[in-house]
Formats: sequence, C-alpha cells, structure tokens
Amino acid sequence: MMQKIGIVTGGGDCPGLNAVIRAVVKAAALRGWEALGFIGGYEGMLDPVQTCDLDYRRLGGLLYRGGTILGTSNHGRFSVRTGLGETRRVPEEILQAARLNFERLGLQALVCIGGDGSLTIAQQLYETGIPVVGVPKTIDNDLKATWMTFGFETAYTCAVDALDRLHTTAESHNRVMVLEVMGRYAGWIATYAGLAGGADVILIPEIEFHYEAIVRKIAEREQQGKRFTIIIVAEGAKEGGGAMVTAGPEQADRETRLGGIGQAVAAEIERRTGKESRCVVLGYLQRGGPPTAWDRQLCTRFGVFAVEMIADRLFGHMAALTDDGVVPVSLAEVVGGIRRVPPDGELVRVGRALGISFGNDGG
Ligand code: F6P
Repeated sequence: MMQKIGIVTGGGDCPGLNAVIRAVVKAAALRGWEALGFIGGYEGMLDPVQTCDLDYRRLGGLLYRGGTILGTSNHGRFSVRTGLGETRRVPEEILQAARLNFERLGLQALVCIGGDGSLTIAQQLYETGIPVVGVPKTIDNDLKATWMTFGFETAYTCAVDALDRLHTTAESHNRVMVLEVMGRYAGWIATYAGLAGGADVILIPEIEFHYEAIVRKIAEREQQGKRFTIIIVAEGAKEGGGAMVTAGPEQADRETRLGGIGQAVAAEIERRTGKESRCVVLGYLQRGGPPTAWDRQLCTRFGVFAVEMIADRLFGHMAALTDDGVVPVSLAEVVGGIRRVPPDGELVRVGRALGISFGNDGG
C-alpha cells in the first residue's frame, strides 16, 4: 500500500543524522512510498508547520554529510528535560496540535531520530495517536536498550584524535594536559576515548573524583620518569561532594549548559603539584563533521530497519543494536532513565588493570 511518511530529527545534532535520513528515504522510495521532513526538530510539526519534500532523486551526498539537512532543536515547546531527573510531559495541547498537523499532511508514519529527550517526545506522540518509530541517536551513547547509538563512534574517534595530538605536546613540555569532552550524565566518550587514546586519568560522571588520587597518579608517573600526564574529563564529572560545573544559568525549557570542569581540574592540579597544566575543550567538534565508516553502516542499518518497522506496523518501537543485529525494542523500554558506564564494569576494570586512575580510591 502507498505510504507517506514523515521524518523528524530532534535534540542536539550528531554525525550520521543525514545518513539515517538517506537510508529511510531511499528504502521508502524503493517501496514506492513518499517522504517529507519536518524542519527544525519537533517544532516543525507545530503551526506554522514547516516541512520539505524528501525526494530521493534530488538528494545527494547525504551519507557522509554531518549535521542534519532538516535542522534540529533541543529546546522549545516540546522540552521534556530527561536525564537523571524526573521526565516532564509535553503539554497536551502541543501533542494534540502535532497530531492534527500530522494527520492534515496525510502521513501514515513518523520516523523520530533522537536521543533520550527526543525519543521521550516520540513516545508521548505515539501515546497521542501518531504511529511512530524511533532511531537511536546521540554522541553520548547513553540510551537504554541499544548496545550503541549512532554518532558515538565518530565523537569518541574525534576525542582520540585530540588525545593523540595532546600527547606529543604534553610530552614535549612535561605538562599536564586536560581534555574536556561531552557527556552530561554518562562518561562513555571519556571512557572509550581514554582507553583508545592512552589517557592516564579518566574522570566521568559515574565516579566522583578526588584531587588527591589524581595528584598521586601524577607523582607515580614522575617516579617512573614520565613527566607528563594526560587527563580526559567528561563535562558532567564532579569532585566528591561537589556539583557539576555549569556554563550558564538554569533555564526552564532546556538542560543547563555544562562546561568548565576541564579548566577547574587543570587549575587545581597546577596549584597542587606546581606542574604546568593546560586544558582543551573539545566541544562541538565532537558533534560536527562526517560520520565514521562504522557510524555510516550503523545509520544505514537503522534507517532501513525503521522503514521495515513501518511496513510491519511495529509502531511505538525503536531500532536497537544488539548481539542479534538490529532488532525492535519498545520505546517505553528506552525512555525514562539513561544507560551509564558501570563503575565496576569491564571498561573501568580494564582501565584500572592498565594503571589508569578514575580519580577515586580505586586508583
Ligand atoms: O546530548 C549531547 C550533548 O552533546 C551533551 O553531551 C551536551 O551536554 C549537550 O549535547 C550540549 O548541547 P547544546 O550545547 O547544543 O545544548
């Protein structure tokens, strides 16, 4: 049967969004379906509705193009503010307005590509009556029920590249180099990049750190003749008993901006050890640019699977990567909480086995 489907990209942008759009549009076109995109995230579903036709014959170069051609937003009228706190419900009139517009456009399904916030919105739209399927996006890799989200591999590869570069300059100047990476409540980027990039200290939101442990690590390295130290810190990491370092005031319709923990760590280490310390904030470089080869294939599989879920009328589900390949999981299972790095899990154990300090008593 002829279908007309909508696509929306929500939340912070992420490498691979365009690759998913391409896979969805192409797989849909080969079934004879039409596709349209909502512009600017979920806001595009509200009046004045903003859409664009997604005709595969006119789309080119999307597989490797960063960002999202549809635009996106991580604040506004749909804000749910998820993470570790309580999830808010989008106001009923907003959900109903989106549903009405969806129906007026003659759409039969909506592909929601997003992280925990955007998929929470997707779940609420589904409960409102829109036939929704989800695709897991976020550089933070903190979504439940999928082994990996797309964009994560590109982001941590970017962090590893930065660590490689910081190594050579740290070594030349006998400095402590601190790299601040993204990761509000989950330290997947810091942990994976720290292991792959040979960091000496990894600081993540899941493990509160103490400066004494970091200073001990630096002293231990000095004794071994290693006069430089590389520290990677997730933006959401915090000192024992302390708070997350923010870069702006709290706002009603969006998450508080984080930033500054890297600089704070560098300054305190310099004060305590007398060693020259420098901080680099990787910031949006992690989110921009083309997806890696791994992410491209993952996006392609997720996009095709989204279309298959629509064909099978498996609404209210998200494509998830598991040991059995890409499978459907219920959106209800995905939302309400995030997946964090287990403090006693394999990754941290491997790090500790190599002498990496996580800034606590464990090393
Ligand atoms: O969700 C991804 C993320 O990169 C977080 O790690 C970070 O806190 C946030 O986005 C920053 O987003 P923005 O500055 O665009 O609001």
